[in-house]
Amino acid sequence: MTRTIAVTGAAGSIAYSLLFRLAAGAVYGQEPVRLRLLEVPQAVERLQGVLMELADCAYPTLLEATATTDPDEAFADADAALLIGAAPRKEGMDRADLLRRNGEVFRAQGAALGRSATADVRVVVVGNPANTNALIAAHHASVQERADGRRVDPSRFTALTRLDHNRALGMVAQKTGAPVDTIERVTIWGNHSNTQVPDLTDALIDGRSAPAVLADLCGGAERARAWVTDEFIPAVAGRGAAVISARGASSAASAAAAALDHLRDWTFGTNGARVSMAVRSTGEYGVPAGLVSSFPCTVDTSGAYQIVEGLVLDDARRSLLDDSVAELTAEREDAAALGFL
Ligand code: NAD
Ligand code: LMR
Repeated sequence: MTRTIAVTGAAGSIAYSLLFRLAAGAVYGQEPVRLRLLEVPQAVERLQGVLMELADCAYPTLLEATATTDPDEAFADADAALLIGAAPRKEGMDRADLLRRNGEVFRAQGAALGRSATADVRVVVVGNPANTNALIAAHHASVQERADGRRVDPSRFTALTRLDHNRALGMVAQKTGAPVDTIERVTIWGNHSNTQVPDLTDALIDGRSAPAVLADLCGGAERARAWVTDEFIPAVAGRGAAVISARGASSAASAAAAALDHLRDWTFGTNGARVSMAVRSTGEYGVPAGLVSSFPCTVDTSGAYQIVEGLVLDDARRSLLDDSVAELTAEREDAAALGFL
């Protein structure tokens, strides 16, 4: 089966780490891919250089790569779209500044996806503020009239919190010495911002409860809780800003790796494992319907995701999630006030 994948912001930093792995089979293995790369006119020349390098890799799985500045052309019959193109946050900017700059991009691209992509397209929004950009794009996609009479359902729009999930895995591995592939059931709740809620309550490390492993390591349950609250949660939630401060640019290679993890798992399933995905809420865990929030998810072999239900949040996590949901609600209100919804 040949897959058609659209990537926006294709001449940018994240895309430069992502396109070569995508073309080489990091998501679809041996299945051939067609890449449709979208950029703004000012970046077209740079994108031509990326196209040259993709050709020069001579990947057997890369059937074709084309560049355009027209969203409808980029998204035509797309099976998946990685929406990376957006202005990145610079030091000192908050997400409200970003929404002002990026909302229009996601309004227009959502509409084009609704008109032109396959109705079952999988959309992964990476550009920030990712959750609310996904909400804006989903809204505009779902109201488009299509030639096939179908509509793109808003649930086809997700946002990337897999980077936060992977950061959490990395930090637990560093703390405990356990290999990352022995750490399960880590969850990121809420917004992809510093209000997100990284959660180890139900996590397992080599089959043992993570809080118990941490209690052994830290010298008691109280100290383990203090490590989680005072060090782990702020470190995961603040990692994006820490990378910007250290590198002078936002995370690129790790964001690319996470976007590929997200799309691969959403397409082929997680084999029962929980991953964090920001998806449209239908009211789970008290998150108002319609918001795009990170939840623990599993994906079955048909490529359908489900939010893991029935987990009990203690008062501390409930209160943190409420704060993150309040931020998502405020972003949705800002988006509406700015005319993006
Ligand atoms: P970058 O500036 O290197 O590249 C962005 C590219 O997008 C540029 O080439 C630009 O020309 C292009 N672009 C801008 N508007 C566009 C449009 N309307 N259509 C098509 N292309 C357009 O930035 P980057 O480092 O690649 O980051 C991209 C985005 O990803 C930023 O918003 C950043 O904040 C975000 N990000 C998200 C996560 C996450 O985990 N969700 C992690 C890291 C970065
Ligand atoms: C990240 O998490 O690295 C990105 O979202 C960049 C940022 O603005 O924090």
